[in-house]
Amino acid sequence: MSEKIIAFIGGGNMARSLIGGLIADGHPHAGLRIAEPDARRREALIEDFGIQAFEENATAIRGADAVILAVKPPLIADVIRDLAGQIREQESLVISVAAGVRCVDIASWLGGDAPVVRAMPNTPALVQTGATALYANEAVTAGQHDLAESILRAVGMVVWLPDEQQMDAVTAVSGSGPAYFFLTMEAMQAAGESMGLSSETARLLTLETALGAARMALESSEDAASLRQRVTSPGGTTAAATQVLEDGDLAGLYRRALQAAARRAHEIGDELGDQ
Ligand SMILES: NC(=O)c1ccc[n+]([C@@H]2O[C@H](COP(=O)([O-])OP(=O)(O)OC[C@H]3O[C@@H](n4cnc5c(N)ncnc54)[C@H](OP(=O)(O)O)[C@@H]3O)[C@@H](O)[C@H]2O)c1
Repeated sequence: MSEKIIAFIGGGNMARSLIGGLIADGHPHAGLRIAEPDARRREALIEDFGIQAFEENATAIRGADAVILAVKPPLIADVIRDLAGQIREQESLVISVAAGVRCVDIASWLGGDAPVVRAMPNTPALVQTGATALYANEAVTAGQHDLAESILRAVGMVVWLPDEQQMDAVTAVSGSGPAYFFLTMEAMQAAGESMGLSSETARLLTLETALGAARMALESSEDAASLRQRVTSPGGTTAAATQVLEDGDLAGLYRRALQAAARRAHEIGDELGDQ
């Protein structure tokens, strides 16, 4: 993809993560463009990444193979309508990272059956360990499919969804997921402190344990349930703790929490879209 031109609309956190990842992956600086209305942020983008930054969206996307929409979701419709003619004429692939905005709406704002990829990354993309789900509409070619995947892979792992409706479940699992783990970390740290550990010791032990458990689960051929059973000796300390969590119906709590997130994702999609 090194010869491809990739243009970003919106120079905020997500665009900066993707640009950083693409440059680290060896994408030439000359093939990256960005539109950002704020002059100071534009200067910072030029200084930090050595890429071209423009005030006007239309200038930034000129000749682009892929246009990445990285503005807040409520702005997406207006941004697309302004650029629709140019995007269709150039036959650029549109990739949206805007939470909740559906492909069918983006294609309709573009004025027809334009190629659109919807991506749902999560905040660990900011440290290049994101988990992104992608969905492509029927107008996306095989080459554009690969281009979209290579862009999002610059900030972590990617999976493709066969059905856009699954984006609500993805939002519930990985989109909002980092916050569930942060909440668990807060609770474990507080419990450690309540038993006499210093705040720093409780914090470090909690975070390193979370990282180690995730790494073990990723590297193991066994599922999480088997890994848990292997470290839970009958009558031992882990069994005493997991019994309390099971008595509190942890699995049921997660099921209800994720269902609430998916329901809200669906409502937001309805609020942001026309279709
Ligand atoms: N951050 C994440 O981890 C994450 C995760 C998943 C999805 N996303 C999605 O990524 C998108 C961007 O999020 P973000 O966190 O990067 O937001 P952000 O930091 O607010 O960045 C958006 C940038 O776009 C600029 N902008 C506003 N209007 C514009 C326009 N008409 N044309 C061009 N640029 C414009 C904004 O400038 P002003 O501030 O001056 O308005 C800002 O610099 C959102 O749709 C969000 O749903 C983000």
